[in-house]
Amino acid sequence: MEEFQKFHTVRGYQLLEQNKKLLTPAMEDYLEMIYRESLTLGYTRINTLSELLNVQAPSVTKMVQKLSVLGMISYKKYNIISLTETGKDIGKFLLDRHNTIELFLSNIGVKESLLIETELMEHIITASTLNNIYFFNTFFEKNSETSKLYHTQLLIYLGQNM
Ligand code: CO
Repeated sequence: MEEFQKFHTVRGYQLLEQNKKLLTPAMEDYLEMIYRESLTLGYTRINTLSELLNVQAPSVTKMVQKLSVLGMISYKKYNIISLTETGKDIGKFLLDRHNTIELFLSNIGVKESLLIETELMEHIITASTLNNIYFFNTFFEKNSETSKLYHTQLLIYLGQNM
């Protein structure tokens, strides 16, 4: 039996569980995006978030203030938004979760609605399902012959069902 690594952001999930009643799907999207942005610059700004999330600047400011009250981000001078340690842990988990679901959908052959469905699924998935999905992705990666066979059969299947 091969060794498989478990989904690695256990702490992120614990933090998310603790904050479950506090974080809405919209807040999760913000934290995920702020984390994404923080990876390159270490911080982000209201206007950048406004563009990236396609939300009006005043709404972004409101949300940023909420997340700041929750201790996820610090937002002080010069419009600079950065993540606290807790915010970083949760943000990393949210981005990993997003990428895991996106890869899964791609692995099973989803193409057109990949991003839209990822954005919907990420907010409702349980820790245990995510762990199964993570295993599936790793399994496909380690067994490229199985993955190829799946995709060949999928094309035949879809061809027959059109
Ligand atoms: Co997402």
